[in-house]
Amino acid sequence: MTTALDDLFPTDAQVPPGVRLPAYLEQREYLVGGELRIWPGELNPVQSPVFVRTPEGLKQKVIGATPLLTSRESLDALAAAVKAYDLGRGVWPTLRVAERIEHVERFLVAMRAQRTAVVNLLMWEIGKPQPDSEKEFDRTVDLIVETIRALKELDRTSSRFIQDQGIMAQIRRAPMGVALCMGPYNYPLNETFSTLFPALLMGNTVVFKPAKFGVLLVRPLLEAFRDCFPPGVINIIYGRGRETVGALMESGKVDLFAFIGTNKGASELKRMHPHPHRLKSVLGLDAKNPAIILEDADLDNAVKECITGTLSFNGQRCTALKLLVVHRRIVDAFLEKFTAAVDKLKPGMPWDPGVAITPLPEPGKAAYLQGLVDDAVSKGARVVNKTGGQSSRSFYAPTVVYPVTKDMRLAGEEQFGPVVPVMVFDEDEEAVRLVVESQFGQQLSLFGKDSARIGRFIDAFSNQVGRINLNCQCQRGPDTFPFNGRKDSAEGTLSVADALRVFSIRTLVATKTTPDNTTLVQSILTRRESDFLTTDFLF
Ligand code: G3H
Repeated sequence: MTTALDDLFPTDAQVPPGVRLPAYLEQREYLVGGELRIWPGELNPVQSPVFVRTPEGLKQKVIGATPLLTSRESLDALAAAVKAYDLGRGVWPTLRVAERIEHVERFLVAMRAQRTAVVNLLMWEIGKPQPDSEKEFDRTVDLIVETIRALKELDRTSSRFIQDQGIMAQIRRAPMGVALCMGPYNYPLNETFSTLFPALLMGNTVVFKPAKFGVLLVRPLLEAFRDCFPPGVINIIYGRGRETVGALMESGKVDLFAFIGTNKGASELKRMHPHPHRLKSVLGLDAKNPAIILEDADLDNAVKECITGTLSFNGQRCTALKLLVVHRRIVDAFLEKFTAAVDKLKPGMPWDPGVAITPLPEPGKAAYLQGLVDDAVSKGARVVNKTGGQSSRSFYAPTVVYPVTKDMRLAGEEQFGPVVPVMVFDEDEEAVRLVVESQFGQQLSLFGKDSARIGRFIDAFSNQVGRINLNCQCQRGPDTFPFNGRKDSAEGTLSVADALRVFSIRTLVATKTTPDNTTLVQSILTRRESDFLTTDFLF
């Protein structure tokens, strides 16, 4: 049976020339020890969420393939990173900050030249709309530029000496070892690079494994990674997570674990490490961010923010609003405006102008989402927007479900897709308890005008989530702001400046301020006899 949504898929000829991929992209290269090695073995097909219409019916586009490496190749990559770090004595961890920055700046030049190729692959591999794909690329470049700026600032401030209780010291930040960086499929470039580059800039060496989707888009950058860094400083592997990454964790040689994904996946991998006290983790995990809409909220603003909050990139953002909790007195008015706005969202291909709803990359996702909706409906909820529940292959139309109650899967499970559960509340304490009792604690949004009441909510939530957004949707940005979460939502804090701290350890040189010691330190400084103990900063 065909549905109206089937017609949104193009024929091959209807794909605009500017976004067509060159050909079938068979990738056999992976990066180990400064060398692009060729994998002769089994490949993993890369299926696009985009189907094409053919005389035989809809066919899913297979756009290429990537290497299915085994634990052997991933352990080779780890060995290269271990060698380049050389217990902290390698070229990279001992290089001056200014020189490390030069390597990254060379990479940035090469990266900018690959914008079109990476943006096109973002569209084809994960179905991200073109403006959002371009934004992801540009935001990533900006993030690296900002990280360099923050590192220069850090280097400047840490060159100062401090004195206390007759002791003087210079406190700097030093690298920690080998980092394993893994990002998510919804921001395969931005989120991965938001840990990878701070790790590199602080002097660590890295093994990077791309996300489960959004894998081919790293290919246009492989030569730049090879050419801009010393051998072994950055190594890039491909394959099934458990086989490749599991072996790395079991080796006990990973010192830093940067992972954006599920708390289940993170826990399984952390458990494999034989020396947990030697592993430092920074994790961005699941979330179920609620928006609480009070009866005095500016409804037009709340609707606008909740539309982008729940449905931009089909709700596939870790920061997306995944539950709307609306006061009973305004729920009907809110739903009327909200569902009208949802039904106006344009479905289509990632490159279609003005498109809001695009195909989903996870196989079986439409059926999973329908299961959540069916569960809610079987327990008394309804689909309340016109297009809700429609689906075709990888498309799932945005679906607003109301009234959602605590016994439904949609109340607690992270849907990570275009289904919007709406709950109703009467007393403020009900909304507070919902947040307090949640398994997750990333962010929330609060819509209302009464300052006394908002103040009380802020106090109730400040020990529950990492960020409270007033009259606006949840989001990670600006990237200079801290990004974290409580409970099963995160471990550690990321921001441009925080990431530099996460991937380093404070290390100090201290001495009693006697005349002899002062002379000794001054001599080291003026004769430039140490790269670490120095007041030189080149910026
Ligand atoms: O998927 C999680 C992203 O970090 C969200 O970032 O709030 O800027 O979309 P965003």
